[in-house]
Amino acid sequence: MADATSVLHVSPVIPVVTIADPQHAVPVARALIDGGVGVIELTLRTDSALTSLKLIAEEVPDILVGAGTILTPGQAEAAVAAGAQFLVSPGVTPFLLDHMLQLDIPVLPGVATVGEVMTVLERGLKALKFFPAGPAGGPEYLAAIGAPLPDVLFCPTGGVSLESAPGYLSLTNVACVGGSWLTPRAAMENNDWEKVTNLAREASGLTRTRLRH
Ligand code: 3PG
Repeated sequence: MADATSVLHVSPVIPVVTIADPQHAVPVARALIDGGVGVIELTLRTDSALTSLKLIAEEVPDILVGAGTILTPGQAEAAVAAGAQFLVSPGVTPFLLDHMLQLDIPVLPGVATVGEVMTVLERGLKALKFFPAGPAGGPEYLAAIGAPLPDVLFCPTGGVSLESAPGYLSLTNVACVGGSWLTPRAAMENNDWEKVTNLAREASGLTRTRLRH
């Protein structure tokens, strides 16, 4: 149940979305769906993030909504209470991992080193966020660690764009990428949901060219 492989298969891109105004929550989720993206990672980086999460969970049942930027067990619990269907952390500590795994929903922990991958594998999770993907080594890094760690599937996030996504999605161990480019701040502030839908449509058209199943 805690493994997030199914989350990585929903869409070639998981939009990483920061919502400042809860009134934007439902429209942005609907705009993503209209563009063919069926998943959203809502970051817990604003005071009202949990309110936005609850609104999406209640009013947009067609989208799989997860909570990102989980740093503490308390945040993980609050996110689940608000309706989060999966949890994402930027990095791992054994303390946080073990708490998140008690919550019985998919957990997508962030890793950037082989040792961190092994810490997560020890707990039975095989779907991981590679963060920050660009600065941590990009597609070359993931290709290199695919040989000793063949069972792991990654969602590279951090510095990924529409242009750089295909380089990741051509790897056998990448099921999707994550990124904030689908929901630019200006589009959110201007209620420009058509812009978000267009960016989502481009992203949902990306293909995983060599993904193993
Ligand atoms: C994240 O939290 O995963 C990142 O902030 C997303 O990275 P990006 O803004 O470079 O896409």
